[in-house]
Amino acid sequence: MALGECKSVNNLDYVKWFRDTSPYIQSHQGKTFVLMLPGAAIADDNFINIIGDINLLSSLGIRLVLVYGARPQIEARFAAAGIDSHLHKGKRVTDAQSMNLVCESVGALRNQIEAAFFSRHLNAPKEVQAAPLISGNFVTAMPYGVIDGVDLQHTGKVRRVASQSIAGLLDQKQLVLLPPLGYSPTGETFNLSYAELATRVAIDLKADKLIAFCSEDGAYNAKGKLYRELTLLECQATLGSDGDLSDHRLALEACYKACEQGVARAHMLNYSDDGALLKELFSRDGAGTMVHRDSYELIRRARISDVGGILDLIQPLERQGILVRRSRERLEMEVEHFTVMEKDGAIIACAALYPFNSANSGELACVVTAAEYQGGGRAAKLLKHIERQAKKLGFEQLFTLTTQTAHWFIEQGFELANVAILPDEKQSFYNYQRNSKVFVKKIAN
Ligand SMILES: CC(C)(COP(=O)(O)OP(=O)(O)OC[C@H]1O[C@@H](n2cnc3c(N)ncnc32)[C@H](O)[C@@H]1OP(=O)(O)O)[C@@H](O)C(=O)NCCC(=O)NCCS
Repeated sequence: MALGECKSVNNLDYVKWFRDTSPYIQSHQGKTFVLMLPGAAIADDNFINIIGDINLLSSLGIRLVLVYGARPQIEARFAAAGIDSHLHKGKRVTDAQSMNLVCESVGALRNQIEAAFFSRHLNAPKEVQAAPLISGNFVTAMPYGVIDGVDLQHTGKVRRVASQSIAGLLDQKQLVLLPPLGYSPTGETFNLSYAELATRVAIDLKADKLIAFCSEDGAYNAKGKLYRELTLLECQATLGSDGDLSDHRLALEACYKACEQGVARAHMLNYSDDGALLKELFSRDGAGTMVHRDSYELIRRARISDVGGILDLIQPLERQGILVRRSRERLEMEVEHFTVMEKDGAIIACAALYPFNSANSGELACVVTAAEYQGGGRAAKLLKHIERQAKKLGFEQLFTLTTQTAHWFIEQGFELANVAILPDEKQSFYNYQRNSKVFVKKIAN
């Protein structure tokens, strides 16, 4: 019996998970994502899982370009050959002998990536096809040249990306694999920064997302707390020093530059975190840091299809006694009174305005922000929205009943009031046992 109960809960969890995921699956289908994978990620134990997840994204109809780096592998080859790797202003000086080792490392990694896609495919059910990988001479490069008297030789920068050819391959459901190499019209090969290349490819392809893997979960504030999201301006302020060559800094800079030049969203993810890619793309909470060009959180009137999302927000608070319980049926009838904040198709905050026309006032109720989004001014924004609605309706005041959030309402300009100020029909239902405090805010006309 106990086992049966447990099974049914798991089944319900599974059904809920699948339903929650489906809007993301639809919204990502047909979109173009550029994935930026440092060499350290390829050496990580989790690499094979990342490849499996990339294959899954491809099977869901997402157009993918994978750009990889090779720094630790190149350094290991230099060390084995006794070559003293020389950096100038953060760029490697690549002479002809070093360039051969760079090409060997990059080529070996390409084989490793192709093999990983294939081996993952063998583990998958027969029906799941491995995404066909295509690589080629899609990147034209030019030398960095001489900087402060130092010739960087075969270290190059991107001159042009054959974005139309790449887009054509993506149309044919091919997954494009780009090594950190470029070729010049003079027939030379150049060693490129994988981060610069991924950024440029994302911009030129007008990709929907750049996804940059690094050794940490994302970007952190001064207290070490992970930012779940950063606006472009906040990202710029977080960038730090130019001299930091860690893959973490490269990922942050790539996200910033890509968004600055037209990519709508960029994500930083930890390459050691199994499933981070799927969590970031298919769940409301994500796993890393998302950088975005502008505010994409939409405030709008709730619709009947939002009832599930609103219930997800309010039910935990009902269980704690913070909110009065509303059944699904009641919520379905009252949903028109709700305003919601939506992010990526998920409801992350809500508030309701119940009109009391006879008393020229409205009740503000059910103000909730999902725990992971609290402290960002979202409830205050929703309140402003509700105040504008109340003003349009010609109300003179908003009132609210609360047991545990008094100070938040005071900070939003509400004042403590007596039960007697409530409209008659509300007063008659006042629950003296619950003993909620009544707060009022005048609406400026
Ligand atoms: C109250 C609530 C809606 C605020 O959402 P939010 O989007 O984080 O709101 P804002 O960002 O505008 O305000 C955050 C501030 O409110 C403060 N705050 C949060 N809950 C509070 C509470 N119960 N009492 C007093 N202040 C509170 C936070 O500490 C923060 O202040 P700080 O930045 O100085 O630390 C959110 O905490 C919540 O959903 N709480 C549970 C539901 C609830 O109590 N709803 C109100 C009754 S209808």
